[in-house]
Amino acid sequence: MGRALFFMHARRSPRRMKRGKIFRVEFSRRGAETRSCGGMVMNDAKALLAAKRAKKDEFYTQRVDIENELKHYKSHFKGMTVLCNCDDPRQSEFFKFFVENFERLGLRKLIATCYRSQDVDLFSQGDCERAICQVYEGDKNGNMILDDNEIGVRELKGNGDFRSEECIDILKDSDIVVTNPPFSLFREYIEQLAKYKKKFLIIGNVNSLTYKEVFPLIKGNELWLGASIHSGDRKFGVPADYPLNATSCGVDENGQRFIRVKGVRWFTNLDYPQRHEKLPLYKKYSPEEFPKYDNYDAIEVAKTSDMPYDYDGVMGVPITFMDKYNPEQFELIGCSDNGAVADQYKLPHFKRHNEPYINGKKMYKRIFIRRRKEEGK
Ligand SMILES: C[S@@+](CC[C@H](N)C(=O)[O-])C[C@H]1O[C@@H](n2cnc3c(N)ncnc32)[C@H](O)[C@@H]1O
Repeated sequence: MGRALFFMHARRSPRRMKRGKIFRVEFSRRGAETRSCGGMVMNDAKALLAAKRAKKDEFYTQRVDIENELKHYKSHFKGMTVLCNCDDPRQSEFFKFFVENFERLGLRKLIATCYRSQDVDLFSQGDCERAICQVYEGDKNGNMILDDNEIGVRELKGNGDFRSEECIDILKDSDIVVTNPPFSLFREYIEQLAKYKKKFLIIGNVNSLTYKEVFPLIKGNELWLGASIHSGDRKFGVPADYPLNATSCGVDENGQRFIRVKGVRWFTNLDYPQRHEKLPLYKKYSPEEFPKYDNYDAIEVAKTSDMPYDYDGVMGVPITFMDKYNPEQFELIGCSDNGAVADQYKLPHFKRHNEPYINGKKMYKRIFIRRRKEEGK
């Protein structure tokens, strides 16, 4: 497939065009085609699970979701080098967002690396291009145009795998990683960020909260959910050959086909004010309404909004409690997955089950929490 030189404005609206940068970069035709095809609306986390099983990792994040989240973290980016390491700069909205907002955020450097597989079956766009690394250091001549000489492009030696030595070297030189990483490699991805002590803002699925690689970071206040997505589903572009076996699917007004995925969340270690807001509690505790588990020394709180304001012990809450979690208000005790709870909270008849039980009936997986002492005074 040939390549063409595209001149394009970052955004279509006239207001945006005025302040947005003009992109003058090489886009592969293949990339352009990919953006205008392939997609469906999937309505639950099964979609991501299916993707994981099929090793289909090509979900393209929409600009609106990036903008809605990034607006909460402006102060964190000043003077920073941002890395988007699962992002083909020729199509990533992350890369385009940071180019367009480079000066506004006061960035030092922007780096994007992309993954290119030779295997067409594994990755839909396996077009045998080598992986590339693009570096942008701002609008040097103030013309608000992304000139050729302002963007550094080099081929990577390998295929751009975020775990490769050369990509880890780039990671080490970066301050904040912002991307939507491959769902099938989410555990390894998080582990690597933690290992190299990087700041990050990445997209994942809410169920990943209880992974054994993730929950300890949450418990240690080294990772939390982001500011903008707490419910509903989100749209992602997908390639043309993506299997259309979803419960519902759609094509947008531009003819672009999309998958809609529930359970999407931002995972971050960048602080923002809203996560320190108190969750208002209004219900009084009663043993009838909040029964104790058979196998945990804790009460069942089926809905976070119903949490009692006057119960001092441990409570089991849905994992979506993490959308409301304020570390000054609550202490995280553990989680029912992977046995991630200290033995002192397991009752003598705990057996080998991790799932909470009430009167012999299995409940959903739970996060165990306790109100901090100051609370309710
Ligand atoms: C969920 S998509 C998101 C793409 C882009 N970050 C975005 O948000 O639009 C994940 C991307 O990671 C890439 N990828 C898959 N395996 C990878 C790996 N081992 N290292 C780096 N990137 C990988 C895929 O090709 C895919 O484009």
